[in-house]
Amino acid sequence: MGNVASQNQLSDVLQLTNLFALVVTLLGVEAARRFFQARAALARIGNLPGPHAIFGPYSPVSMILGPIPYFTQPAGMPFRERYSMHQTYGADVVSSGYMFNMNPTYLWVADAAIAKQMTTNRLDFPKPLQIYEVISLYGPNVVSTEFDEWKRHRRIVAPSFNERNNRLVFEETTRIVGELFDIWSTKGDGETVKIDSVVPVTSRLALMVISAAGFGYRFGWDDMEDRPAGRQMTFSTALSTALESIVLRIVLGDAILKLWKRGRRVIMAFKELRVYMREMIDERRQSAADGANGQADLFTNLINGTSSEDEGKTFEQLSDEELMGNVFIFLFAGHETTAHSLGFTLALLATHQDIQEKAYQELRSIVPEGDQLTYAHVVKWTYGLAVTYESLRLYPPVTSFARYAAHDTVLTTSSTDGKNTPIVFPVPEGIEIMINVAGLHYNPKYWNEPEVFRPERFLGDYNRDAFMPLAAGPRACMGRRFSEIEATTFLAHLLLTYRFEGTRLNDTETPAEMRERLLRWRQGTVTIVPEKVSLTFTRRRK
Ligand code: HEM
Repeated sequence: MGNVASQNQLSDVLQLTNLFALVVTLLGVEAARRFFQARAALARIGNLPGPHAIFGPYSPVSMILGPIPYFTQPAGMPFRERYSMHQTYGADVVSSGYMFNMNPTYLWVADAAIAKQMTTNRLDFPKPLQIYEVISLYGPNVVSTEFDEWKRHRRIVAPSFNERNNRLVFEETTRIVGELFDIWSTKGDGETVKIDSVVPVTSRLALMVISAAGFGYRFGWDDMEDRPAGRQMTFSTALSTALESIVLRIVLGDAILKLWKRGRRVIMAFKELRVYMREMIDERRQSAADGANGQADLFTNLINGTSSEDEGKTFEQLSDEELMGNVFIFLFAGHETTAHSLGFTLALLATHQDIQEKAYQELRSIVPEGDQLTYAHVVKWTYGLAVTYESLRLYPPVTSFARYAAHDTVLTTSSTDGKNTPIVFPVPEGIEIMINVAGLHYNPKYWNEPEVFRPERFLGDYNRDAFMPLAAGPRACMGRRFSEIEATTFLAHLLLTYRFEGTRLNDTETPAEMRERLLRWRQGTVTIVPEKVSLTFTRRRK
């Protein structure tokens, strides 16, 4: 009896061992297949060197383990490395190669002439649309389309960004900042305000500005606005929750999100946002039909270029689904980017008091004491724009963007050893090419002492092809002026009313540690995020 039992146990163990051996063999075969696939992909680009690893940024292993040399390379690599990966591998264009990733190889471009070529020649280097699918959840839009489809979107969307809208951005930012200062003046002695982390403030500001100047939708700083009857969330809550959770929703899907409370709230936010956007479209169509379409927000222009579904669309119009896709994209594109960029600008000005003072004095020379800030003042304040650009150079919120080669070609870059030796490499059809914005912005061939915060470099001549925080060419950012006016208006009001500096976290934090912390960053959903910018604002004496 005992013998039979132990024989059965032995056969179970043997079966398990066989199963284990089978799994290990299959994994080994798959790893070998991927290894040779990655090798072949690298051979097609002439084995251009670069940072290679087993698991790439789209692999869950990289997401969980973080960066481990040669093993994992999580998202955030371009800003961690900036120009240093080009120096390490000796060329202004390098490759990355992975065994486990969405793509086995990419090219990384920190060469201004090649970046210009890729952003200008739209048909030779189009957008790889698969990585933009996540932002089409409410409908196709100007960011997620290519070729004739994109042209139609862009033609209809472009007139929305006009001078009247820029002025509206100024007016709405002024109103919103005024409300913020009213709140601040009720805190403590009304003279000094300590903000533990500025990102929630700049995020709320960006959300309020894009909602008001984009869609004529106003709400306050404290989200105590009334929830309309029948709605589960206010517009601002639905919007901020959806924007924060877009990746979570795509990665996990509703079936998994349903399983816990926060997940269910995310699902609800996306549903509520759809209802709000639907209502906005219907209301605005109605007022357009009533002849009341003279507003300057982005949406008014957009709606004039669309037809209601019943009427059927012509080639020059957007359908309701496409309209909703573009409404969402304005909210998405105009929020996180601006919010985080403003956070970095405040951190830089707090850690460079001389530049903060210079920005104030330059502004004061334009706005006489006692005068109200106007749109004309803001447009004239070139030093304010230079500060904004220098912040975008040092901390580009979008650290890289993608194109792919539509057909085989050959490109030439140069070495990084100071000799500028030409390096020729093949670019096979289909390969994805990342414009390494952070690499371009820190490339010493284009920027003298690239690590230094020096707004003056934007007052003179500079290499425009080496500055791509908002992309370039026909697919450059459409919200460029919108975000510039918003940023400079906010900064102007702030500097005219307050001076600000970093707040120490505790008595043991040294000034050098505080400075390092104020400029610390992490990789967010789409952009890099300032991690802990705690500031003290002190009202200027008249
Ligand atoms: C600091 C703020 C901003 C930054 C850094 C930024 C950055 C960018 C970048 C890098 C692109 C190109 C993306 C790609 O090709 O993959 C882009 C495109 C775009 N941005 Fe912005 N953006 C900002 C603000 C805004 C604002 C405020 C809006 C709208 C109100 C906006 C609307 C758009 C649109 C519609 C496109 C797509 C253009 C096209 O493909 O034809 N952006 N932006």
